[in-house]
Amino acid sequence: MSDVKKLYIKTYGCQMNVYDSERMAEVLGGSGYVETQTPEDADMILLNTCHIREKAAEKVYSELGRFKPLKAAKPDLKIGVAGCVAQAEGEEIMLRQPMVDLVVGPQSYHRLPAMEAKARAGEKALDTDFPEEDKFEKLKNRPKAQRGPTAFLTVQEGCDKFCAFCVVPYTRGAEVSRPVDRILDEARDLVERGVREITLLGQNVNAYHGAGPDGDWSLAKLIWALDKVDGLERIRFTTSHPNDMGDDLIAAHGECAKLMPYLHLPVQSGSNKILKRMNRSHTAESYLKLIERIRAARPDILMSGDFIVGFPEETEEDFQDTMELIRQVNYGQAFSFKYSTRPGTPAAERPQVDEDEASDRLTRLQALITQQQRAIQDGMVGREVQVLFEKPGRLDGQMVGKSEYLHAVHVADAPVARGDLARVRIVESGPNSLAGVLI
Ligand code: 5AD
Ligand code: SF4
Repeated sequence: MSDVKKLYIKTYGCQMNVYDSERMAEVLGGSGYVETQTPEDADMILLNTCHIREKAAEKVYSELGRFKPLKAAKPDLKIGVAGCVAQAEGEEIMLRQPMVDLVVGPQSYHRLPAMEAKARAGEKALDTDFPEEDKFEKLKNRPKAQRGPTAFLTVQEGCDKFCAFCVVPYTRGAEVSRPVDRILDEARDLVERGVREITLLGQNVNAYHGAGPDGDWSLAKLIWALDKVDGLERIRFTTSHPNDMGDDLIAAHGECAKLMPYLHLPVQSGSNKILKRMNRSHTAESYLKLIERIRAARPDILMSGDFIVGFPEETEEDFQDTMELIRQVNYGQAFSFKYSTRPGTPAAERPQVDEDEASDRLTRLQALITQQQRAIQDGMVGREVQVLFEKPGRLDGQMVGKSEYLHAVHVADAPVARGDLARVRIVESGPNSLAGVLI
């Protein structure tokens, strides 16, 4: 093997995992690894996994099976499992799949170089601790490679909310906010490397309360500090909890020009009975009232949400309450799931809804959301938006980017480069994107 080793990372699940994968690649850069897009070339394969739903964990095992021939052909190949499945089932993975050399939980990835060395020496390496030290602070000497125009920046991790269906409080641990100065340093560094839009990430990002120079800062205060970073043009954040939508954050949506008019605010259900059983500590009415206040601050905001159907003991009537809530909100985007039993969570022990019934509810809910999404997208035709161009499109000369509302917009024969911001008039609405012309 040459000195340069190749690393193939496959990422599942949420955007926080995308961010973590980038950080893992950087930290392993210090051990001589460069990233490759093909597992066949790799000296190390890392699966950065998600545990949020059952199928996600099953995918990991089938993916590992696929790598078996690669490992047989190249005994030096090291295989690692990272992320939330690693955290929850690390030891079981090692037993079930002996070809796995390394298991690393989401809070320990700064320890990867030592773990990699151990694996190279032929030992198994497993670390699913919640270490005292800050994993982000251990990632010094990052290579200053040029970046694309958009980037994620994790500002908060973990969750103390304990929704009855969710594994996050167990796999990612208690809520921790990163200090303000570190976040601002990282943001400035990203901007120097070409980034123009930053999405602040956290499992409950709007519960952010990181240490600032004058006490704890809210997410809104952090956004206003980022607003002053020259060269940073757009700020987004995800994912939020309705109970943490502070007045200052709502006001920022109306007043901060760099904060984009898009809000992902999961409600999960529109039935107060189910919300209570989910331990959500908000009602359908309080959620609708909150959206009213947000829309008063920023009338054109595009709302996004998450829904679970078939939660234990959900009746057709409960489901109809969810459909009614969706009609009242009018979503531009949404993610919806059938309830999936997660071992160790309170809801796992309760009477389950019939599988076919749950599937039928999901189909009906998704049809309604698609209709709303489509109508909102079609309503963009004729309007002027600002597009941040990210990459060439499928057709020659075409460039593609995102509008303020996170709609994909493509422009034909546009004299624009990656990272340019331009005003665009929308002329057509297709199945997954909008077509526009430069103004
Ligand atoms: N079953 C189905 N969906 C779930 N989610 C979280 N846990 C579960 C589960 N056990 C969904 C929620 C959450 C999103 C990230 O995943 O809607 O907001
Ligand atoms: Fe999971 Fe609920 Fe926390 Fe979101 S708020 S991460 S759904 S426990």
